[in-house]
Amino acid sequence: MAESQIQSGRGGVGCGVDAFQRCIAAPCGATYDVGEVLVSCPRCGELLDVDYRWDRIPVPRSLKHFEEAWARRDDPHLFSGVWRFYALLPFAPREVCVTIGEGQTLLQRADSVGAFVGLKPGRLFLQYEGMNPSGSFKDNGMAAAFTHAHLVGATRAACASTGNTSASLALYCAVTRLMRAIIFVGSGKIAFGKLAQALDFGALTVQINGDFDDAMARVKEVSQQLGIYLVNSVNPFRLEGQKTIIYRVLEGLRWETPEWIVVPGGNLGNSSAFGKALYELYKLGLIQRMPRLAIINAVGANTLYQLVEQEGIRWHGGDLDRAKIRRFYERMEGEGCRANTIASAIEINRPVNLSKCLRALEVCRGVVREVTDQEILDAKAQVGMGGLGCEPASAASVAGAKRLVSEGIIGPDERVVCVLTGHQLKDPNATVAYHTTDQELFNRVLGSRGVRRAAFANRAVVVPNDIDEIVKAIQLYG
Ligand code: F0G
Repeated sequence: MAESQIQSGRGGVGCGVDAFQRCIAAPCGATYDVGEVLVSCPRCGELLDVDYRWDRIPVPRSLKHFEEAWARRDDPHLFSGVWRFYALLPFAPREVCVTIGEGQTLLQRADSVGAFVGLKPGRLFLQYEGMNPSGSFKDNGMAAAFTHAHLVGATRAACASTGNTSASLALYCAVTRLMRAIIFVGSGKIAFGKLAQALDFGALTVQINGDFDDAMARVKEVSQQLGIYLVNSVNPFRLEGQKTIIYRVLEGLRWETPEWIVVPGGNLGNSSAFGKALYELYKLGLIQRMPRLAIINAVGANTLYQLVEQEGIRWHGGDLDRAKIRRFYERMEGEGCRANTIASAIEINRPVNLSKCLRALEVCRGVVREVTDQEILDAKAQVGMGGLGCEPASAASVAGAKRLVSEGIIGPDERVVCVLTGHQLKDPNATVAYHTTDQELFNRVLGSRGVRRAAFANRAVVVPNDIDEIVKAIQLYG
């Protein structure tokens, strides 16, 4: 990735690529060059998409084509689970695309978790994004945002984070040495596994006395003031990378479309990216049917659920009721309502991708549900017993699928993919507190959030340091 390749564009950094940025708002739709660094439309303030002149891009006629790339995986761009789908996100010249080996993830059939959810054998699949280099799905998006940052010559990149975006940014900076990572986290609001990563990878870590929503507001201001490149999911290039999760899900299903894709909802970047990916594939004739999307909030951070399922907010082809959303936030502010859930990754009250997510719900005939911390932790324990550990936020997808089956929205015969967004070791405190024999620990970490029982706890057996007692315990419980 020689610097000369990036600087040598003839007539702008986007030179040679058939991509541009476009405002998603219906009447506006303003377009901008890919070389511009924007996190919202300068004309109307709405979010931006990366869009393509598809008629000028050599898109393969079948998704099967992408399998061939794997045979040439000695090329880092074809090894990457993001860039081997380059033809579907060609916003930068291929040779400048940054990769650290992201996207080597797994779609696993999960019958025992499926039985817990209420699905027949062979119907539930878990898309395990914990296998990414930093242990969460964020690396898919970071590969793309980082590529754009590099393309425009950024030397510093920032994000606000509940922990995974910051771990990912810190890692890309540490591996590539192309930029300095500056991360904003809410004080006491980030799981230790994630904080440990940011610190270890050498990011400048700014702890804000507030929560994620505060950190997000501040990082937007600071990055604008200091000209620092922002990699949060308001960055449209981030979401291009996250589209590839969908491509890999389809690949895992031999390019068949499932009936449902279920994903946790926090800042709503993933759900937005999934909607865009599926819509593009459909428009390009690469899939024949759109799956339905289910987005799962935690009860303690349920802005999307309230807006969609209670207030009836819809995308309406871009003509959404912005005044009603504004009033909702004013009411929330007035009541001093702060997000609060054990699923700290999705402890967010002001999701920045709300409007894009509403669009995804429209194109995928989506539904939104909320699940309690109790349901999240019970689902997480089931995921663990099934063999793929995940962090609490990820298990919201499984808990949500269970709810939708019990409501009869998802049928027991339907094929369902739940996205496990982050690795089990990201948040060991929640896991240990769930399985603990120490009631004080349980109450402090979980009881305070309304969790009353650990239905699937695997409790440690406490024995004296004595060989006979140990043998007795193993014979009794083993
Ligand atoms: N799951 C995990 C493990 C996450 O880290 C996040 C978001 C989500 C789900 C929600 O995804 O924002 O696309 O709706 N984490 C962000 C962060 C906010 O800062 O790491 P989303």
